Amino acid sequence: MNGAPITFPRGREVVLGVSAGIAAYKSCELLRRLQDQGFLVTVVPTLSSLNFVGKATWEALSGRPVSTSVWENADSVSHVSLADKCDLIIVAPATADVISRIAHGRADDLLTTTVLASAAPKLIVPAMHPQMWLNPATQDNVATLRVRGFIVMEPETGRLTGKDSGIGRFPETPKILSVVQSIAKTAPTLEGKKVIVSAGGTREPIDAVRFIGNRSSGRQGLAIAYEALRAGADVTVVSAATDPFELEGAHIIQVESAEQMKQAIEAEFIDADVLVMSAAVADFRVEESSIGKIKKEAFSGLKLVRNDDIVAAVGAKKLPHQVIVAFAAETASNLAELGEKKLRAKNADFLYVNDVSGGAVFGQEITSGLLLSMDGAPKVFHNVSKHDVAQEIVHSVSSRLESHG
Ligand code: CTP
Repeated sequence: MNGAPITFPRGREVVLGVSAGIAAYKSCELLRRLQDQGFLVTVVPTLSSLNFVGKATWEALSGRPVSTSVWENADSVSHVSLADKCDLIIVAPATADVISRIAHGRADDLLTTTVLASAAPKLIVPAMHPQMWLNPATQDNVATLRVRGFIVMEPETGRLTGKDSGIGRFPETPKILSVVQSIAKTAPTLEGKKVIVSAGGTREPIDAVRFIGNRSSGRQGLAIAYEALRAGADVTVVSAATDPFELEGAHIIQVESAEQMKQAIEAEFIDADVLVMSAAVADFRVEESSIGKIKKEAFSGLKLVRNDDIVAAVGAKKLPHQVIVAFAAETASNLAELGEKKLRAKNADFLYVNDVSGGAVFGQEITSGLLLSMDGAPKVFHNVSKHDVAQEIVHSVSSRLESHG
C-alpha cells in the first residue's frame, strides 16, 4: 500500500474537433455516444462553429473546459498537451474550410494547431454542400489528407439543410462510431451494463490509530475497472485501501472495513449486471474496536470475530442475468483444486485464482494464475500484466452476458 500511483494504458482520450457546419448539432449526439462507449472527450470547436453550438453546451456535455484559441489557458500550452495526450482526433463535422486548412498545414486556431502537433490517428467526417464537396479544390485536399494517413469518411447522399439534396450529408452516428471503434480497437461489449469492481485491501480498526490490513494495492481490480470502462460499462469501484489512483469516468465509493464494503456492494448490486470481487477482504475483525488509542499497559489481547463473506452472500442472492467474478489468493500448489472449491462455494461464474506464494502478485504489475469458469476450461496466465488478465476477465464476462441475451 501507498506505493507508486497506479497508471492505466492509453486509449480513451479523444479530441472532438467541431467546425462551422449546421451538422455541428449532430456532434452533440456523437459526443454523448463516444462517452457511452468509454471515451473521454475534449471538444475543440472552431470560433465560427460556436454560431451553431455554443461553448456552454460543449462544456456541459463534455464536463471539460472548452477553448477555441491557443491564447486561452496559454499557461497550459493546450495545443501541445491536447496533442500529446489524445489517442484519436475526430473532426466532425469537417467543413471545406477546415479540410483545406488542415491539408495546407495551417495552424491558426486551437483545432488546426492540435491536429498539426499530434501524432494520434485522425478521422475527418466531412459535411457540406455537394458543390463544395465535389469542387476539385476540396477533392484535392481530401486526397492529400488520405495520402498523409488521415481517415476521411465519405459524406452521405440525401436531403440537405435547404430544399436541395445530394452528396454532403453528415453520416449517421453509428456509422461514425464503427469507424472510431476500428481505429481505437475497442468494442463496446459492456455498453449499458453496470459493473461493480471491488479493489484494494480492507482495514479492520483496532483502535483510533491501528488497524488490521493486508498487502493488496488494488492494481488488479483497477485494471479490470479500466478495461470495463473501455468496453463502455457504467463502472462503480468500491475501493478499500489502494495505492493512489485516478480513474476518470468511474464512480468511486471509498470504504475502509469489510462491513462498509459489504453494505456498499449489497446496495450497488441490486441493479448491477456484474460484480468483480477483487478486493482483499479481511476475514476477521476486532470484536470491539476502541474509540481511543489503546495504551500498552491497558492492552490485554484482541478478540477477533469472523467477517461475513461478501461475495458468497451476494452470490447466494444473484439473479440469473447477473455475473460474479471472485478471486482467490493461494500459497499452496494445488491452485486449481482450491479455486474450484471456492468458485462453487461462492456461487460465482468465474474465479481468478492467483499464486501469492513468496509475496508474489501483491503490489506488482505482473501476475500468474488461473481463470476458472463454472462451465469451461481454465485459462492459464503465466507472468502476464494485470491488464492482460483484466482484458480476459472483461471478455469472458461480456461473452457470458451475451449468452444470457
Ligand atoms: N471475500 C469476500 N468476503 C470476505 C472474504 C473474501 O467477499 N469476507 C472474497 C474476496 O474478495 C475474493 C474471494 O472472496 O473474491 C476469495 O477470497 P480468499 O481470501 O481467497 O478466500 P476465502 O474465502 O476468504 O478463504 P481463505 O481465506 O480461507 O482461503
